[in-house]
Amino acid sequence: MDDLKAKYLTQIADAADETSLEDIRIAAVGKKGEVALKMRELGKMTPEERQVAGPALNALKDEINSALAAKKAALADAALDERLRSEWLDVTLPTRTQRRGTIHPISQVTEEVTAIFAEMGFSVAEGPRIDTDWYNFDALNIPGHHPARAEMDTFYMHRAEGDNRPPHVLRTHTSPVQIRSMEATGAPTRIICPGGVYRADYDQTHTPMFHQVEGLAIDKDISMANLKWVLEEFVKSYFEVDGVDLRFRASHFPFTEPSAEVDIRCSWEGGTLKVGEGDDWLEILGSGMVHPKVLEAGGIDPNEWQGFAFGMGIDRIAMLKYGVPDLRAFFDSDLRWLRHYGFAALDVPTLHGGLSR
Ligand code: DAH
Repeated sequence: MDDLKAKYLTQIADAADETSLEDIRIAAVGKKGEVALKMRELGKMTPEERQVAGPALNALKDEINSALAAKKAALADAALDERLRSEWLDVTLPTRTQRRGTIHPISQVTEEVTAIFAEMGFSVAEGPRIDTDWYNFDALNIPGHHPARAEMDTFYMHRAEGDNRPPHVLRTHTSPVQIRSMEATGAPTRIICPGGVYRADYDQTHTPMFHQVEGLAIDKDISMANLKWVLEEFVKSYFEVDGVDLRFRASHFPFTEPSAEVDIRCSWEGGTLKVGEGDDWLEILGSGMVHPKVLEAGGIDPNEWQGFAFGMGIDRIAMLKYGVPDLRAFFDSDLRWLRHYGFAALDVPTLHGGLSR
C-alpha cells in the first residue's frame, strides 16, 4: 500500500496537464484502477486482516482523491495565470462607439410607398434613366413644339456629328415608364414606377436629380373615383393618420384628360406639419385619366381600355413626413445628416409591421 501511495502521489505531483491527471485518476482510483483491485482482495482475507486493510485502503483512496483535486485546482490556476500573461488589454483606452450604416430617407420612403401600393395590387416597374425623347415626350402626347418640353429644363445627351440614333435625354419624369410597361405587359395593368429623374434646376426645393413615383392603372372601367380612393388610401397609410381630406384641382397635363392636381389638408401650426387637419392645402401630386393618345402610343386600344395615372415627388413627400427643410441635404452625403435622418438597416417597412418604425 505504501508503494501504491508513493507511486501515485509522485505521478500526480508530476502531471503536466489535466489529461494526464485524468489518466492517473483512472489508473489509480477508477472502477478498474489499482485501488479497486486491491479492494476486491479484501474478500479473500481473514476478518482480522480485513479490519486493518479495509480502513487503510479507504484512507489511501481518499488521499489520492484529495491529491488529484488539489493538483487539478493548481493546474487550472496555472492555466489562468498563463492566459492573463499572454492576453493583454489596455482598459484605459476610450470605447469605440459602433458606427453602422443607415438607410437613406429616400430609399426608406421608396420602400414605404412600394409597400403601400403593393397592398393595393400594384407591382413595381422600372425604366432607363437615359431614355429617347420619344418615350420621354412624344409618346406622352408632348410633341416637339409643345411648351412642356421647354418647361422641363431637359438635359439632352450630346450627339456626335453623323449619329443617327434618336435623340436621348436624361428622363425628366417617371412617366415614360408608363409607355414601356404598357408595351411590355399590355392591359389590364397596375404598376408604380419609382426612380430618379433629372432637370436643370437648383435651389432649396430643386436639385438636378430627384425622385418620382409614377402610378398607372388600366382596365375596362377604371374611373376618377378609383383614382381618388387609391390616393386617399395611400396618403392615409403614408402619413400614418386615420383620416385625410384630399382636394382635386382641375389642371392640365398633356398625358391625361381630364387632369387634376391633388392637395391634402394640413396645418403648419407651430412650424410643424400636421396632415389631415387645419386650413392649409399642400400640393402633393399630378394625376388624371390617361389620354387616349398615350394608350395608343403604348399599343393599347383606347376604345377598349381606360385608366388613371399619377406622378408624385418622392423627395417632396419624404421632406414632408420626416421634417427635412432643405431638399439639397438629401444629396450632400453629409455623414452627420445621414446618421440623424437615416433608418435602421434591418427595419423593412411593411403595413403590418409599421412603415416608419
Ligand atoms: N410627369 C409629371 C411631372 O413630372 C407628373 C404627372 C402628372 C404624372 C400627371 C402623371 C400624371 O402620370 O397623370 O410633373
